[in-house]
Amino acid sequence: MQKHQMYIGGEWVEAGGGEWFESLNPYTGQPWALVAKGGADDVDRAVEAAHQAFTSGDWPQLTATQRGALLRKLGDLLVENAQHLGQTETQDNGKLIAEMAGQTGYIPQWCYYYGGLADKIEGSVLPIDKPGHFNFTRWEPLGVVAGIIPWNSPLLLMMWKLAPALAAGNTMVIKPSEFTSISTLEFMKVFEQAGFPSGVVNVVTGFGADVGAPLVEHPKVAKVAFTGSDATGARIYEAAARSLKHVTMELGGKSPNIVFEDCIVDDTVKGVISGIFAATGQTCIAGSRLLLQRSLHDEFVDKLVAFAKTAKMGDPASMETQVGPVTTIPQYEKVLSYIDIAKGEGAETALGGAKATRPECGDGWFVEPTIFTGVDNQMRIAQEEVFGPVLSVIPFDDEEEAVAIANDINFGLAAGVWTQNIGRAIKISERLQAGTVWVNTYRAVSFMSPFGGYKRSGLGRENGQEMIKEYMQQKSVWIATETEVPNPFVLR
Ligand code: NAI
Ligand code: MG
Repeated sequence: MQKHQMYIGGEWVEAGGGEWFESLNPYTGQPWALVAKGGADDVDRAVEAAHQAFTSGDWPQLTATQRGALLRKLGDLLVENAQHLGQTETQDNGKLIAEMAGQTGYIPQWCYYYGGLADKIEGSVLPIDKPGHFNFTRWEPLGVVAGIIPWNSPLLLMMWKLAPALAAGNTMVIKPSEFTSISTLEFMKVFEQAGFPSGVVNVVTGFGADVGAPLVEHPKVAKVAFTGSDATGARIYEAAARSLKHVTMELGGKSPNIVFEDCIVDDTVKGVISGIFAATGQTCIAGSRLLLQRSLHDEFVDKLVAFAKTAKMGDPASMETQVGPVTTIPQYEKVLSYIDIAKGEGAETALGGAKATRPECGDGWFVEPTIFTGVDNQMRIAQEEVFGPVLSVIPFDDEEEAVAIANDINFGLAAGVWTQNIGRAIKISERLQAGTVWVNTYRAVSFMSPFGGYKRSGLGRENGQEMIKEYMQQKSVWIATETEVPNPFVLR
C-alpha cells in the first residue's frame, strides 16, 4: 500500500510516533493507502513552522500583490492537476468522478478570486475629531490559522479557508479528516511547486482527538476555521475560547426545500433530487426536509419517487454513476440507524429505506435513496442531521405554515423555495432563518457569494469579498501633528 507522509515546514515527514493508519476506499470497502498518524508533537512542530513563517523569512516581506501572484500561480497548477486530484478524492471519499470533474475544475477560481483581492484590502484615513492628530487604519493578518476540514468535500472546503487566509497574509496548519486525508496531501504536492516560502502551509494528518484538539489548544494558533458537525464545532468553540482565538464555524444543517403548488413541477422534482441525493446526501446544505404544499402532495411525491428510482448507483469512478457510496463506515451505520429511527417514529417509506444490495454496489457502503412521507416536523428524522440520502416529506397548507415549519429547527444553513410567484419568493426568502436561500434552484455555491449559517449552523461566513476580514484584524494608527500636550492627566 502506498504510504502518505505529512507536510511540515516544507518537508515530507513521518509522524513523530512513527505510526500509520489505513485509509479506506468506500466503494471497495478496502484499505488502499497508509497515512501518517500524527499527534500533539507533530502539531507543535507544524504550528512552530507556521509561526516562524509568519514572523520571519520571506512571507511577511512579500507585498500583498506578490501574495496574490503566488495564489494565481497555485490556481494555474491546480488547473493542470485537476484530474489527478479529482480521481484521488473519488478513490478516498467515494465522491462521484462526475462531480469531482466539475469541482476540481472550479477550485482554482478561489485562488484567482482571493489572489486578486489580496492587494485590494484598504484601510482608511479618518476625518478625526481630535485636533492635532492624524489617524488611519490598516488591515493586518491574524497569524497562524488552523484549518480543520471534514470528509465530505475535502479539497473544496479546504480551499474556502486556504485562499482567503493566504491572501490576507496568514500562515496555516491544515488538519484534514482522518477518513479522507489523501487528496489534501496530493494537493500539497501541487502547492509545493507554486513557490510559497516553506512553513506557510503545513498539513498534519491524524484523528480529531490526537491532532485536532491540540491544534485548537495551541497557544500560537490565532484562529480556527472549522467545517464539520455542530457537536464538534461547539467543542472546538469552547476550547478556542480558553485562549481567546478567532473562529469561523461552518456546521450542519437540516435545510427546508419548500415547494409551493405554483412551482414548475418537473424542474422542481429535479431540484429536490439534487438537494438530497447528490453527493449521497452528504452535504451540509442537503435539502433534507421537503416541505410540500398539501394540494400538490400526492402528485409530487409520485413524480419524485419515479425519478429517484432511476438513479444509477455503483462505482463512483464511472461517469454514469449518480449515487455513490457513503464515505465512512460510522456514517453508513448512522444513516441506517436514522432510517430505523424514522420507521420507529411512524414515517412511511415511499422509497428505499434500506442498505443497497444491488450487484453494481459491490462491497461498498451504499444506502438506497430513501424518501419518507408522513413526517411531522417534531420527529427526530425532521430535526437531526442525517447526512445521507434520506429525505423527509412534511406537508403544509399555506405560506404562514411553511415559514413556521421551516424555521422551527435549531439549524439555519440553507433553504430552497420553489414557486412561480415572484412576490412570494421574495417574501418567503426574507422570512427564512438561513444563511443561503435558493429560489427555483438548489446547491449553487460560488467563491463570490457569502456562505454560512444562522443559529446552530455556524458563525461567520466563507466566500465573498467581505469575509477576507474574518482572517484579518484592524489597526488604528494615531500620529500627532502638534507636539504640545495640553493636560497629560486626562484623556485626549
Ligand atoms: P466532525 O465534525 O467530528 O469532524 C470534522 C473534523 O474535525 C475532522 O477533521 C475531525 O478529525 C476533527 N475533529 C474531531 N474532533 C475534534 C476535536 N475535539 N478537536 C478538533 N478537531 C476535531 O465530523 P465527523 O465525525 O467526520 O462526522 C460526524 C457527523 O458530522 C456526520 O455524521 C455528519 O452528520 C456531520 N458532518 C457534517 C459536516 C458538515 O459539513 N456540516 C461535515 C462532516 C460531517
Ligand atoms: Mg477514505
